[in-house]
Amino acid sequence: MAAGWPPAISLLLLLALLLPVTASSMVLPLFGNVYPVGHFYVAVGIGEPVKPYFLHIDTGSNLTWVECHADGGSCNKCNTVPHPLYRATQNKRVPCADARCASLHQDVGKPKNCGAAPQTCNYEIQFLEGSSSRGMLVHDKFSILPKSNAHAADIAFGCGYEQVEASGRNEKVQVDGVLGLGRGSIDLVSQLKQLKVIAKNTIGHCLSYKGGGFLIIGKDMSTFPLKKWAPMAPGQPRYYSPGRATLHLDARSIGGADPVEVILDSGSTYTYLPNALHKQLVPVLQATLRKSLQVVKDPSLPGELCWKRPEKFRSVDDLKKEFKPVMSFNFGNEVTMAIPPENYLVVTKQGNACFGIFAHNAKYIILGDITMQGLLVIYDNDRKQLGWVRADCNKPPKSISAITSRI
Ligand SMILES: *[C@@H]1O[C@H](CO)[C@@H](O)[C@H](O)[C@H]1NC(C)=O
Repeated sequence: MAAGWPPAISLLLLLALLLPVTASSMVLPLFGNVYPVGHFYVAVGIGEPVKPYFLHIDTGSNLTWVECHADGGSCNKCNTVPHPLYRATQNKRVPCADARCASLHQDVGKPKNCGAAPQTCNYEIQFLEGSSSRGMLVHDKFSILPKSNAHAADIAFGCGYEQVEASGRNEKVQVDGVLGLGRGSIDLVSQLKQLKVIAKNTIGHCLSYKGGGFLIIGKDMSTFPLKKWAPMAPGQPRYYSPGRATLHLDARSIGGADPVEVILDSGSTYTYLPNALHKQLVPVLQATLRKSLQVVKDPSLPGELCWKRPEKFRSVDDLKKEFKPVMSFNFGNEVTMAIPPENYLVVTKQGNACFGIFAHNAKYIILGDITMQGLLVIYDNDRKQLGWVRADCNKPPKSISAITSRI
């Protein structure tokens, strides 16, 4: 029998369907992969009417920005991006005197300089890989795509009209800009929290080995069942650092007992070790491999260490058959991160296995996407702590508890 709902309840149901319920957190699907794309990104909508943009998720930088045409002119130097460039109109500029402009300059670490254009908040940022971007702060309606879980909010972000790549050339890129998820005060998550769209200043990413995954923002993570949290290292206010760690290959310690500072950076595709540590790791790893694996040069990753075997490598499962050693970082205090072969190798188009841990001149370790795949990595800015746990990153969770129940 089709009994009607009591009128009061049906009115409530109707209201619940019609009223935008204040969301406490958001789950965004991720696209992209470590190889061949080189990064993970979200799809967002900006403006009215909404236009789509892809933003590279970057926990190593603060500002959210898109490549754009500044008002009255065209982009000075833009890469070839997947969507038509965002066009910033005059009325979308954030003036220099606006508090958000001061926050922006604090976040990018440069003094504010209004100069001759007080109606414009200009900035310049340098990225770790050597590229830079010049732009102005604008504001517009931001929504999360697909539209089904859209929360349009007026957000300040960068309109980058002059990008200089490390290579010196402008390139064809797979994203329109960057979703800065760093420790700043004007980053998207802080703004959404201030607007009460989300409850907490937290970020969680789960990068799948198969590509894709999901990004959670604003969720209360205080009851999340992790064995151990690592406090954000107080000596490193610029980046997310769970502290200093020693490196191990199976049970062997690499690089002696002196721990090295570690930074979590979803904006970096690969993992980087200081030169000296890398130099010690490679021969120890090489000594564990079967003689049938030969070192080769691979055009996909020129200059990096790659191996071939008689039959081509096809998948992550092939890697597990040939590469046994598990690396790990030990942060002390029972905080560790295990790095199985699929978290330090990539299978290239040529069917080789390439080492995804590179050397750099800096004194710290950057843990990039390759090493964070298959983990739910949590950045809790409210509690100043970081944590990670093995998780199934293939499906966005209905709820956080659903992730852990699948582990
Ligand atoms: C991000 O912003 C915070 C707060 O303003 C600042 O301390 C930090 O150095 C910035 N990080 C980067 C990578 O610029």
